[in-house]
Amino acid sequence: MTTQPTGFGPNTFDITGRVAVITGAAGGIGRASALALARFGADLAISDRDAERLQDVAKEVEAIGRRCVVGVLDVRETADVEEHVATAVARFGKIDILVNNAGGGFQAPFMNVNSKGQDSLIRENFTSVTNFVRACVPHMTSPTGGSIINMTSIEAHRAAPGFAIYAAMKTAVMSLSKSLALELAPQLVRVNCIAMDVIAAPGLGDHDFTGKAVLPLNATGEDVAGACVYLAGDASRFVTGSTIHVDGGNLASAGWIRAQDGSFATGFNGSLAE
Ligand SMILES: NC(=O)c1ccc[n+]([C@@H]2O[C@H](COP(=O)([O-])OP(=O)(O)OC[C@H]3O[C@@H](n4cnc5c(N)ncnc54)[C@H](O)[C@@H]3O)[C@@H](O)[C@H]2O)c1
Repeated sequence: MTTQPTGFGPNTFDITGRVAVITGAAGGIGRASALALARFGADLAISDRDAERLQDVAKEVEAIGRRCVVGVLDVRETADVEEHVATAVARFGKIDILVNNAGGGFQAPFMNVNSKGQDSLIRENFTSVTNFVRACVPHMTSPTGGSIINMTSIEAHRAAPGFAIYAAMKTAVMSLSKSLALELAPQLVRVNCIAMDVIAAPGLGDHDFTGKAVLPLNATGEDVAGACVYLAGDASRFVTGSTIHVDGGNLASAGWIRAQDGSFATGFNGSLAE
């Protein structure tokens, strides 16, 4: 990884021979990202607590022609994470890519969340990430370095009433990613985030989200997978401590809302204020 090969092209995105660990891979964004990494050449260690759907994804990965280690586990449980990563290293000998995708939460005003609920949100969205980073980084020893990709959210970058602790943990992951980007740079391990807004996924129900973003599209896990493939390989070898916003323009809009006639307004001007 010290010298970029000349002739940037499709091969720059090729990750054949690399090993990717990806959490929450049984559905939604995790499944789409796992399958994309496999199509671009990676062998995978996938995990999720949904055993049945995870096995289905493993079959899809093997049908693509890649090797796959399966871990049915809860990402909040440190010992189970360590065991899964050890199994992956025993099979593949190394780790190149870590995608911390598992996460989620529930909607409730902050004052209605008790300490048990808060602890669950912290472990689901933050401890899960530190668990996998600690387990994987010692095995990111390839001369090409490593890539850690943390799935955060637009909620890490704005207020999120009803999701205050979830959003705070996504912000914490973003901050952690920046610090780790510096700490791990000497061993060429890059640490970046992908911050998405509404993406059609099982966790959000079977909805068409067209109209919920500035770009009038119904985004799917494949839209996130594109950013994931870019961050995984050498095309992004000089990118660390950064965030790619896969949100259809919603962070940029910062309060500007598109009306049905296609014009934009904020709460202080235009027809939406009337
Ligand atoms: N879909 C969106 O609109 C959206 C928006 C912003 C951020 N995100 C983030 O993207 C990531 C993936 O979201 P998604 O919409 O695909 O979610 P999803 O709920 O559809 O899928 C998440 C997967 O992770 C697994 N999982 C969750 N908690 C787990 C745990 N403790 N242990 C093991 N497995 C666990 C689930 O079983 C599921 O297969 C999450 O981190 C989420 O916060 C999603």
